[in-house]
Amino acid sequence: METEFFDNVTQEIDLPMLCRSVGDSSPMPMAGLGGSLHTVRYVNLAFCLLTGKSKDELIGTVFCGVAPGMNECVLLLDRVVKTGLADSHIGQGKTAAHPLYWSYAMWPLLAADHSHLGIMVQVIESGKFHDDAIAMNQALLLGALRQHELRDAADQLNAQLQAAIVLAKKAEEALIGSEKLASAGRMAAVLAHEINNPLAAMMNLLFLAQTNADTPAPVHQYLKMADDELKRIAHITRQTLGFYRESSVPTTFLVATLLNSVIDLLQAKMVSTHVVVKRECDDLLEVTAIFGELRQVVSNLMLNSLDAISEGGVVALRTSISRSPLDGSKRIRITIADNGPGIPAMAGPRIFEPFFTTKGSTGNGLGLWVCKQIIEKHHGSISVRSRTREPRGTTFSVVIPQKPIL
Ligand SMILES: Nc1ncnc2c1ncn2[C@@H]1O[C@H](COP(=O)(O)OP(=O)(O)OP(=O)(O)O)[C@@H](O)[C@H]1O
Ligand SMILES: [Mg+2]
Repeated sequence: METEFFDNVTQEIDLPMLCRSVGDSSPMPMAGLGGSLHTVRYVNLAFCLLTGKSKDELIGTVFCGVAPGMNECVLLLDRVVKTGLADSHIGQGKTAAHPLYWSYAMWPLLAADHSHLGIMVQVIESGKFHDDAIAMNQALLLGALRQHELRDAADQLNAQLQAAIVLAKKAEEALIGSEKLASAGRMAAVLAHEINNPLAAMMNLLFLAQTNADTPAPVHQYLKMADDELKRIAHITRQTLGFYRESSVPTTFLVATLLNSVIDLLQAKMVSTHVVVKRECDDLLEVTAIFGELRQVVSNLMLNSLDAISEGGVVALRTSISRSPLDGSKRIRITIADNGPGIPAMAGPRIFEPFFTTKGSTGNGLGLWVCKQIIEKHHGSISVRSRTREPRGTTFSVVIPQKPIL
């Protein structure tokens, strides 16, 4: 068993001294109150630190003026005086001087004869608990916000994914379309090539028949007509072959030459439908482009107009030159306008889609899609204006740089 070294340890501590020491050295802020207004009569160092005031400033002031949330506290203090029972008061706010929440324990101070001396108030800082609760709330709020953000981000990614799927689908369809087109082009070239040989033989035979002295005059006339038609077939096959061969070499040519070659190609169709073609062109206007491809554009647009207009309709071809508002470079505009029935509003947004057609089995729905691909390749644009009410008609405008970089 250990022995104490100090000789006074067995003596009882003087109670007033103990009380003062308990109060003064307590880490808990304490205040002794007296009188009906609960005036501060004692404060320890911890209380001074909590309130940010000196002992001199505090002694003699009303406790209600020092602590926050005092209205309820006064009632409590009165009750403690009346009942002589301890009470407590929790979480009444926070002061500017001390950012923590206050809560109090209070009990009556009685003299040896049980007469009422005053009230001892001990402040318990419950601020930590509140801060934790606030921090927890903030964390929850942030969590909810984060969750919201994550959901938004997920929704956005989802929308992007959907758009990518749609694009991929369109690209796939376009690829199938262009493959079909390429094989159609190859087939046309092979056919044109194969037809050319027997054509040449037939023209030779016709020539022989025409130059034979024994051929009667009316038969001569028929032979001449057959020869003309054969020449036209030969011309068409050469053009078709040309479409396939010249496809990728840019050259500089007159826009008028381009339009003439298309009119030439579609002559037969124009004559049979009694269509009037008006040409308002600058004969000297030049453009650098892939001739075969531009001819395909103009002929697709012309064919659509010829399909749309009835007997005696009018197709107007116009050319003009303008400057780009962006860099001032020159641009060529070709317009193909008809006075056909116009494009119905429902079909309007879809006409450039591959395989969209209103012509049933006679249309492939590729003409305009091909035009758009070619024009975009030439860094240009294609647009359409159409009216289904009088004055009806459709105008396609093609604009390309005069010298696109291809
Ligand atoms: N000038 C026009 N007037 C009225 N409708 C038009 C005109 N040009 C195009 N269209 C409409 O646009 C649709 C798509 O045209 P597009 O040239 O792409 O295909 P198509 O002519 O139907 O078939 P294809 O050209 O492949 O033989 C046509 O079916 C038609 O409904
Ligand atoms: Mg077409």
